[in-house]
This record gives sequence, structure tokens and C-alpha cells, in this order.
Amino acid sequence: MAIISSKKQPHDSSKEPKQHQVPSPAPAKKSILQPEAAIEEQGKQEESMRPQQFADYIGQKDLKDVLEIAIKAAKSRKEVLDHLLLYGPPGLGKTTMAMILAAEMGVNCTLTSAPALERPRDIVGLLVNLKPGDILFIDEIHRLSRMAEEILYPAMEDYRLDITIGKGSSARTRSISLSKFTLVGATTRVGALTSPLRDRFGLIQKLKFYEVEELSQIIQRSARLLNTTITEDGAREIARRSRGTPRIANRLLKRVRDYAEVKSFQTITETVAAEALQLFQVDPCGLDWTDRRLLSTIIEQFHGGPVGLETIAAATGEDTQTIEELYEPYLMQIGYLCRTPRGRVAQAAAYKHLGFKPPQQEQLSLLQ
Ligand SMILES: Nc1ncnc2c1ncn2[C@@H]1O[C@H](COP(=O)(O)OP(=O)(O)OP(=O)(O)O)[C@@H](O)[C@H]1O
Ligand SMILES: [Mg+2]
Repeated sequence: MAIISSKKQPHDSSKEPKQHQVPSPAPAKKSILQPEAAIEEQGKQEESMRPQQFADYIGQKDLKDVLEIAIKAAKSRKEVLDHLLLYGPPGLGKTTMAMILAAEMGVNCTLTSAPALERPRDIVGLLVNLKPGDILFIDEIHRLSRMAEEILYPAMEDYRLDITIGKGSSARTRSISLSKFTLVGATTRVGALTSPLRDRFGLIQKLKFYEVEELSQIIQRSARLLNTTITEDGAREIARRSRGTPRIANRLLKRVRDYAEVKSFQTITETVAAEALQLFQVDPCGLDWTDRRLLSTIIEQFHGGPVGLETIAAATGEDTQTIEELYEPYLMQIGYLCRTPRGRVAQAAAYKHLGFKPPQQEQLSLLQ
């Protein structure tokens, strides 16, 4: 398996908030609750926790059903898999799924990321080296340059490369045929893809946040791989705080394991997990300082909303993209925040969680 570059560009979420309204400890999410991979998580140990086959890939039933059928059909017709676009928040298993697909199809998977394909020759080099049936995985595909995209169009449609040789009046176009391959694109921002590119994918699949039970199974599996003993309740306690994201679940498990080892606990129980995560300032719902600040700003400064995204960004000192892509999806998933045509509205559950008195039900529905 060739890994050209699977590194993500760091998200620009480093801006410090200007005001401090929520009396709370220092922001913890930047390190422990961020859904993107930290540098140390691109190493061997993380790779060893990555599921290698469908059976180990827990959850995402709809996605697995669709892909299992696509694999069976492609295998029985002895054809290559259709091009596949996977989208969803970071850390939900897009790269993992691409690698499993390659293993199930018995082909090679070349991993790369759009920012690494800046020059036309980068992508041309990858394409001409693909063998029949191979999978080319392009992470952050919404960041492809226009030139790279245009090279991809005929490659995806007709397995052909069109290259121009020479300049000016002596320029000639030559076509090179490529092996039939499968492009697997991954993105956290499907809306940012150009429509010609999106239309060339035969399968477009969304990854959803995981349920607590699914995360709990992932944690128990990872604990076995790490030779750590954990009870079901212990795993569930970590799962509840993992923001629906396996990458965060695995990271929290490792921190809890450290705590248990240092304190000489043989087994990670619910109490041990809760104590450890409290120490790391991970709140019982997996909210961090910024989530709490976003919600409390909406509640305190804007009477619970509706309030526009730009206004929230200005009031909290976060940028709109970070709020929209990193924070809101999970807050909406757990029913703390609602997006309405008039702006964002904090929900009763958020009031309760932060210790505010929830507004009357009638008022809440009037606001929306
Ligand atoms: N369904 C799953 N079952 C078990 N473990 C999983 C599953 N999905 C993801 N993981 C674990 O979570 C980690 C992160 O997954 P992965 O790298 O595939 O996420 P991603 O969607 O590609 O994230 P990004 O958008 O940041 O690239 C993996 O190392 C793997 O161990
Ligand atoms: Mg990935």
C-alpha cells in the first residue's frame, strides 16, 4: 500500500476567543476533543487500531450495505468498482473505509491528499502508475486545483489522460490510456466540490456520527488491541464523551488507560473512566470550552437566538467555517442547537446542560 501523503492541512481553528464569559478551565478541545488527527496519531499505533476488514468496521450500516453490494456486483462482473465519494465530519472512518475496500477487492490503494497534487505532474504520475482495479484515494478532494480536476475528468470517465505537448502553434494534444481504476474521494465539505467533479462519482455516501453503543464496541475492540481491560460500562462512559467520533473515542481511551495505569487500577470501570475524563476536562456530553462558549453566547447575549452565524462568529472570536464544520454538526446531532432560516437557536437541552433556566416551550417555538 503506497502512502503518498495522507496528512491534513491543519484547520485554522487556532484563533483565541476574545472574550471569556463562561467560567471554565482552559480550552481542552484543541488537544483532546478535536476530531482531526493529531500529528502523533499518524503513527504506527493508530494504524494498528484501524479496522482492516468489513467485519471489524463497526456502525455505518447504510454505508456498509451499499458498498458490500457494489463490491459483490463488481467482483461477479469482474469489473472495477464505481468511483466513490465519501463525505462527513473528520474522524468518522473515511480513510479506513477506502483501505477496507482495497483489501476486500484485493487491490492496491494509493493514498494521497488534494493539497499534495498542486502540479499537474503530481496527479499524472499517480494515474499512470495505477494497475488495473487499483484504488486511488484522494483526501480533502474539495481542495483539488482546477488543473488537477481537469486532468481527472477524462481519467474518471474514459480512463484516459489528455496531455498537451509543446507550446503555441506547435502544441499538440496526446491521449494516453490508463488502467481502469477506482477513485475514492473523501471530503468534509461536499458542498465545496464543483458539480462536474461530483457528477463523475457513481456512488456518493455520507458518514454519520456514531451512536454511543457503536462507539462503545469500537472502544472495547481498541482496548483488546491495546491489551487493556475495560468493562462495558467503562467503555460506555468513554463513548458518551466521544462526540460520536471513533478517532476521539480511541484517543480518550488512551488517556483513560494512562490514568488507570498510573493509579494502579487493573480494569477501566465506569468510575475510573469518569474520574480520568474529568481530569482531562472532558464534559459528560463531550462538550469542550468552545462548544460551551458558543451555546452560552447564544443564550446570554442573544436570548437563545435566532442569531446569524456571522454574528456568533464575531461575538465568540471563532471563524464561521470552524463553527459550521467543527462545532455545529455535533451540537445539532445531540439536539443542543438548531439551524433555522432566521439563524441559530439554542435548544432547551442546551439550557439545561449549561445550568440556565430553559425558556417556556411556546416561546421557543415562536423563536423558530
Ligand atoms: N467504523 C469504525 N470502526 C472502528 N474504528 C473506526 C471506525 N471508523 C474509524 N475508526 C477509527 O478511527 C480512526 C479515524 O478514522 P479515519 O482516519 O478513517 O477517519 P477519516 O474520516 O478519514 O478522518 P479525516 O476526515 O480526518 O481524514 C481510525 O484510525 C480508526 O481506528
Ligand atoms: Mg482521512
